[in-house]
Amino acid sequence: MTTTDPATTWRVQPAPPLPATPDDAGAWAYAGMCEIERLDELDTWGWSDLWAPLHVRLPLLRPTPYSRTHVWVAVRGDGGDAGDVVGYATLSEPLTANQHTAHVAVGVAASHRRHGVGDALLRAATEQAAADGRGTLHAYTSHSPEPEPGAGALESPVGSGRVPAEDAGVRFAQAHGFRLEQVERYSVLELGDEHGAGTPELTEHLAAARARAGEEYRTHTWLDEVPEDRLDDVARLYTRMSTDAPMGALDVQEDPWDADRVRAMRQRVADAGLHHLVTAAEHAPTGRLVAFSVLEVPLPDVPFAFQQDTLVLREHRGRSLGMLVKAVNLERLGAWRPGVRRVHTWNAQENDHMLAINVALGFRQAGVAAAWQRTGEGATTRHA
Ligand SMILES: CC(C)(COP(=O)(O)OP(=O)(O)OC[C@H]1O[C@@H](n2cnc3c(N)ncnc32)[C@H](O)[C@@H]1OP(=O)(O)O)[C@@H](O)C(=O)NCCC(=O)NCCS
Repeated sequence: MTTTDPATTWRVQPAPPLPATPDDAGAWAYAGMCEIERLDELDTWGWSDLWAPLHVRLPLLRPTPYSRTHVWVAVRGDGGDAGDVVGYATLSEPLTANQHTAHVAVGVAASHRRHGVGDALLRAATEQAAADGRGTLHAYTSHSPEPEPGAGALESPVGSGRVPAEDAGVRFAQAHGFRLEQVERYSVLELGDEHGAGTPELTEHLAAARARAGEEYRTHTWLDEVPEDRLDDVARLYTRMSTDAPMGALDVQEDPWDADRVRAMRQRVADAGLHHLVTAAEHAPTGRLVAFSVLEVPLPDVPFAFQQDTLVLREHRGRSLGMLVKAVNLERLGAWRPGVRRVHTWNAQENDHMLAINVALGFRQAGVAAAWQRTGEGATTRHA
């Protein structure tokens, strides 16, 4: 669509074909999208650690046998330059499970808000979703700080957690038929004298976890390469991740992984310039991996990392294996990349056991991420 606002003319169009590198001709649209994302990150948190620069973003947008992502941009004038991009929408569609769902994200440059740009972008994405048979849409908004309870806060329907009722993203999501389903706690661990590798705190947690786990469990740590004979076990842990983490009323089913998918994910992560540091716990009597924890660490030496998945198989819980794999991974991170100062993570607010481990390790809340859902019935918005 093309429309005018008081200052300029813009239109929504599919992004050009995904460029191979940030230097290719079609990269302008993606560079423009990335810049809007960066400014939004700065606005929300005051830092851009969570932002994916273009050389990270492009490989993550490439289609795989497991997912594909559509991108639209709102463009000023003729386009062709990153500065012409005033908004973007992405629609990510899983291809091997949860094919009734898609994840949508919309961002508009601050200078162009409240002129219907977000509306037009979301419409393009939802039309594609409908054409692809995706009746359930998911979206996330981020907020810092978490608001106090009261009139200005919208409460999560499960567990605890609040988002600011007047936030633009919240109002936009509600105006388009999305329902708040879950609020995740976003936390940061500041590594240094108090927390992290070599500190008395981590050393004690590690010793206590090892003692409680006992001789039956031993840990393995891998940087990037998971040994071939362990891939099936790691795939099983990722599969359980898709069902065992609390999901509120989000309409998602089990997402099965196999060894090929673990290999493909590893390749994708490497292409995006990210390392994976994985610590897994093996149950010695059976030789099977029963717990794991993954740190994602950007390839150039930046001072931050991301605490990603952590899981202990149900039948092995209650033996401090969650603390064990996390603490070993943090020790190894400190030895390998001592310049990392901050680790970012997200957990469902109702995930008491995981949060207790994180709080003990020194993670402190820095904000919230809200999960929104629009189902078939909810798809009747003011634009439908
Ligand atoms: C949310 C966002 C995409 C909206 O973009 P936008 O171009 O300003 O949105 P639109 O002008 O199309 O607004 C459509 C409707 O959303 C609602 N809305 C959007 N921003 C709002 C705000 N600040 N306050 C109240 N309602 C708002 C209104 O109902 C609005 O309709 P109206 O202007 O006729 O009242 C933009 O503020 C943004 O990029 N925020 C940061 C990223 C984000 O939160 N994305 C949403 C998660 S997917």
